[in-house]
Amino acid sequence: MNEDDLHFSLDWQGMPDEEKFHELEDVLQHLAQIYGHEVNTPYRSIYVGDGLVATSRTMGFTEDPRFLKALVGAHRPEDGEYQFRRAWRFHTLCWGAEQALACAGDFVEFGAYLGYSARVAYDYVDFAATGRRFFLFDTFAGTPEGMRNEHFVSEHEYEGRAEEIVRQRFAGCAEIDIVPGSVPVSIPIERPERIAFVHLDMVSAAAEVAAMETIWERLTPGAVVVMQCYALRVFREQHEALKAWAQGIGVPILELPTGQGLLIKPAR
Ligand SMILES: C[S@@+](CC[C@H](N)C(=O)[O-])C[C@H]1O[C@@H](n2cnc3c(N)ncnc32)[C@H](O)[C@@H]1O
Repeated sequence: MNEDDLHFSLDWQGMPDEEKFHELEDVLQHLAQIYGHEVNTPYRSIYVGDGLVATSRTMGFTEDPRFLKALVGAHRPEDGEYQFRRAWRFHTLCWGAEQALACAGDFVEFGAYLGYSARVAYDYVDFAATGRRFFLFDTFAGTPEGMRNEHFVSEHEYEGRAEEIVRQRFAGCAEIDIVPGSVPVSIPIERPERIAFVHLDMVSAAAEVAAMETIWERLTPGAVVVMQCYALRVFREQHEALKAWAQGIGVPILELPTGQGLLIKPAR
């Protein structure tokens, strides 16, 4: 991976028609020539990747050595090169994790899969030095049948060794709790008692709302929740369900151009 891969990649999420993809590729190449895609171009820049096209943004995260180290250092071949095209999403995640350190409580990821996103956040904030615990929830067998979105688009090839890979990835990290099982039933009643950070990434409206309902009272004031697929059109059901839940408790969710949602627990 080089720096350019972080902000210019012609991978286009959701383009099954190859001919159309190449047409789009030409348009984007042309755009790139107009805007210039070197990070250091003073007035012009372009981000193309992960279904997002943005021009004239600073994208300071692509120049942040701590961020790059976490993103690249955590990566294993099983994670896939496409993860680097999601750099902006990982920037949100790392910001959320760092912001959450201002609050008391543990970290939680619902939907750990191979553990890549958790490991990026873990490394970015030097989690081992924080004295907290990081809980990683997953069935490690995909979304349970009864909890799948009506338009189920994920997990065509679920990695059968997911749990083993996560355990390897965090071998020797005493502050990590790997919790296999179906959320919300798998969430222990007594742990984590207080939560400062949640990464919600189960691509299931039913599971994500149930998780938030179960843990909401445990979130400390100022706690950060990053919802990975809240604003991705293909996961619209999560958007509707989480928005309705949040409106019910009077808390707004910020919809981000990366496709994520961001919620901060109010201090009341
Ligand atoms: C998109 S993957 C998570 C990716 C991971 N956070 C990353 O970025 O590296 C979604 C995961 O959610 C898990 N999942 C879906 N529904 C679940 C449920 N009800 N309980 C536990 N895990 C669930 C699936 O098994 C899958 O591994």
